[in-house]
Amino acid sequence: MKNILVINGPNINLLGIREKNVYGAKDYADLCAFILQQAEEIGVNVKICQSNYEGELVGFIQDAYGKYDGIVINPAAYTHYSVAILDALKGVALPAIEVHLSNVHAREEFRHKSVTAPACLGQICGLGFMGYALAMRALAALLENK
Ligand code: DQA
Repeated sequence: MKNILVINGPNINLLGIREKNVYGAKDYADLCAFILQQAEEIGVNVKICQSNYEGELVGFIQDAYGKYDGIVINPAAYTHYSVAILDALKGVALPAIEVHLSNVHAREEFRHKSVTAPACLGQICGLGFMGYALAMRALAALLENK
């Protein structure tokens, strides 16, 4: 079974409290339960981690090297300006997919730019929790014969 690391950035732990009109009413525990249930359905091992700190997110990515087959990452606000996360993703060179709960392109202009997406195979945004399931499914398919 392939091992996938799901990394969530700052304020994703505030789901259910923060801007419910944008992110919905479900909380972070609901998101984690959904990811675990979907992983089981897809047939991948998944570990989920979250941090509000850039350096810790870089550490999660570095630690994934040699242990995980792929990464699903929602870098949250760091998406828009973290060269450190971009470099970490490039550094470990694991297949990664960027996910955003909201449609960043329909929001403020500063959210239209992703600094981190160039280090990813692709980006999924605007589909809520489902984005994580689609990302895991895509990684599982891409990793199938590797
Ligand atoms: C987000 C979008 C980001 O612009 C924002 O800073 C977040 C969440 C999303 O999942 O839609 O914190 O990554």
